[in-house]
Amino acid sequence: MSDAPAETLSDRIRAAGRALGDRNEAARLAALALEQPLGWIFAHGDEPLDPRLVQRFAEMVDRRAQGVPFAYIAGRRGFFGRDFSVSPAVLIPRPETEHLVEWSLELPLPDDARVLDVGTGSGCIILSLAAERAGWRCTATDISNEALAVAAINRERLQLPSVRLLHGDLFEPVGETDFDLIVSNPPYVAAGDPHLEDGDVRFEPEVALSSGPDGLGHIRKLVEAARGVLTEGGWLLMEHGYDQAGAVRQLLHDHGYENIESRRDLAGIERVTGGTSAGV
Ligand SMILES: C[S@@+](CC[C@H](N)C(=O)[O-])C[C@H]1O[C@@H](n2cnc3c(N)ncnc32)[C@H](O)[C@@H]1O
Repeated sequence: MSDAPAETLSDRIRAAGRALGDRNEAARLAALALEQPLGWIFAHGDEPLDPRLVQRFAEMVDRRAQGVPFAYIAGRRGFFGRDFSVSPAVLIPRPETEHLVEWSLELPLPDDARVLDVGTGSGCIILSLAAERAGWRCTATDISNEALAVAAINRERLQLPSVRLLHGDLFEPVGETDFDLIVSNPPYVAAGDPHLEDGDVRFEPEVALSSGPDGLGHIRKLVEAARGVLTEGGWLLMEHGYDQAGAVRQLLHDHGYENIESRRDLAGIERVTGGTSAGV
């Protein structure tokens, strides 16, 4: 029989921290593996290793070491104060996108506004809006059935059954033409952009990311087609790349939109641009 002290949770987290180059992340993965809050992990670090942890934790650390995003391992990500299920079928919701939600909520819209989200992914934008404004009539589209299945899980978890989720290209599955607000965080990375090979992005769906040679393919179509779907004076708000605000404002101007404006994210980068439709 060996006299060596039993390996503790802290020992295992330290080793995983060395492998990942991030001890805090190792502790968060241990919390996930044990289905305990992070505080519990720190409070029980000196205890012998729970056999339930060993296998699950090792698998999670391996995946993370291969670069799999933390959110895909956890299967969830916080957005605008709520927890959203995510899978590799959807873009991981980003903090920048919360500015699109904030701006939408500031608009002087009717209590029963018709709102459309194009390219809904996990549903984080439209479900946040529906949760904040009970009277809004909310619809979302996505070209990916796999993404819509994730949005449907989130709709169920957040108990927002009236939000319509439609499958198809941009506005094609939508019957109405009188939306008060259209929001979109469309794919906006230029095909071949080296950022597509970076970090978490490598694991996210191509269909959620890239849009033609200059990244503006979807935005051009949205600006052009939204005028036919918006009510007169209705708003179109779009997230875009860090260097695209000027081009997006120009597109809106060229298509006769009014009240054109861009909003900055917390890093001071113009991130969301929008305007109102003057009707067709
Ligand atoms: C950048 S992701 C945004 C997802 C989510 N709205 C968010 O902010 O996290 C873009 C989404 O647009 C969808 N998409 C791409 N092309 C589309 C198209 N032609 N019509 C509808 N949706 C599309 C993708 O499947 C993806 O879910």
